[in-house]
Amino acid sequence: MALLNILRYPDPRLHKVAAPVTEFDAGLRTLIADMADTMYDAPGVGLAASQVDVHKQLVVIDITETKDHLQVFINPQITWASEEKQVYDEGCLSVPGVYDGVERPSRVKVKAQDADGKFFELEADGLLSVCIQHEMDHLQGKVFVEYLSPLKRNRIKARMVKENRGIEREAALKAAGRRY
Ligand code: NI
Repeated sequence: MALLNILRYPDPRLHKVAAPVTEFDAGLRTLIADMADTMYDAPGVGLAASQVDVHKQLVVIDITETKDHLQVFINPQITWASEEKQVYDEGCLSVPGVYDGVERPSRVKVKAQDADGKFFELEADGLLSVCIQHEMDHLQGKVFVEYLSPLKRNRIKARMVKENRGIEREAALKAAGRRY
């Protein structure tokens, strides 16, 4: 089990656009396992590779209460979205503690590949639909706070910058401590 470091907003690396996965090899399998471990540990219902600074089109999701149904989406594409929209309170492991309403299509059809490179298509509604769209935004370098008003977004950014500085300071102190 390996836990990966989750980038925190407004880290500029969260805005990189992910490249398609072309090799369905052992390295990919390890990355999927590590991302799943990281998501379950956080805990969260979804994680995009972009959030762990790997800029490949790969998303892991598990929306079950029992945390025993891992869904892997590689090179995902939305092939259809309903005209009907819904507003869901979203959160993000890269913006901990922030939840706000985002309007998105209620239902989507997604085409993607699994860990073996096999194509599949599914239709999602409810939380799964929200989660897929949220994680796919990450692959395009988009974080959900970008849907909020500039005022809200700037407040969140300021708070995160302050928190991130505190975390960095603590890490530096710990690292310095180890040298003595
Ligand atoms: Ni997120």
